Amino acid sequence: PYVNTKEILEKANKEYYAVAALNINNLEFLQAILEAGIEKKSPLIIETSEGAIKYAGTGDPLRGAKFFVDMVKGFADTLDIPVSLHLDHGKDFKYIVSAIKAGYSSVMIDASDKPFEENVKITKEIVKIAHSVGVSVEAELGKLAGIEDNVSSAESVLVNPDEAKKFVEETQVDFLAPAIGTSHGAFKFKGEAKLDYDRLKQVKELTGIPLVLHGASSVVEEIVEIAEKYGADFGGSKGVPSEILKETVQLGINKVNTDTDLRMAFVAGLREYLHNNPKEFDPRNYMKKGKEYVKKVVADRLELLGSAGKA
Ligand code: G3H
Ligand code: 13P
Ligand code: NA
Ligand code: ZN
Repeated sequence: PYVNTKEILEKANKEYYAVAALNINNLEFLQAILEAGIEKKSPLIIETSEGAIKYAGTGDPLRGAKFFVDMVKGFADTLDIPVSLHLDHGKDFKYIVSAIKAGYSSVMIDASDKPFEENVKITKEIVKIAHSVGVSVEAELGKLAGIEDNVSSAESVLVNPDEAKKFVEETQVDFLAPAIGTSHGAFKFKGEAKLDYDRLKQVKELTGIPLVLHGASSVVEEIVEIAEKYGADFGGSKGVPSEILKETVQLGINKVNTDTDLRMAFVAGLREYLHNNPKEFDPRNYMKKGKEYVKKVVADRLELLGSAGKA
């Protein structure tokens, strides 16, 4: 069924596991993700960025948001596993309101680039609107940036645990994304992968609510190899290793945002298929391998995070 993200994450919080939040822009990624979730009997959070909504709606936020609700809810209503739809990194009021109006299960208000008090104020406003119609809310504290990139100013970039406590109390936000050293995309660490576990542990102890890890892709080695074999150049790419992800789940992460790994998996399969089938031009055929690799990457993640079997 189509459910509230809060229902999925409160169960995860109680039972100490995490649910993958998987970004989509189109039908094919959704199909691959759902197949993995069904096979692993796992709850799923599907998420779309503002950019995804803009893309799907060819510029009209409400049209784009409705498109994703129709598609995700349409599938979810026919399935036994819980599936929710989340707005990722909502920054523009137009997109946030469109998502809520269209029927998203939850929205993220990302005012993390604003000073603390302003972040509190903006988040509070969105919480008020969203909660009045039963939509749950995620917010973010600190800035997503690798620890190494900010050695001198790490304190101001990573989440401050005391601020996190105050933030959650004042805003009544449902889920919190604390910056602990990850970043978006395929190039997360220059040297060794490293996150601030102490900060995460403190944020969990002080807030107790479901926590979200952004920039959580692992940059899967086998996928990079296939993609590069068929012409990609992903030199220097590096993600969050599986063991580190597992550790963050033990310390209280319940939602693991994943986009880059899916994109890399799809393009690896697409390149492989097109290379091996130069006469093919039917999209239903040439996207098959891409979907297969997305499904595999998601299935592995559901096992790793402990949500497999929890549906
Ligand atoms: O947070 C970033 C997500 O990976 C979405 O990225 O804005 O390119 O859709 P996007
Ligand atoms: P990745 O780029 O590591 O997949 O992070 C995705 C994300 O945080 C979406 O909000
Ligand atoms: Na999000
Ligand atoms: Zn993110």
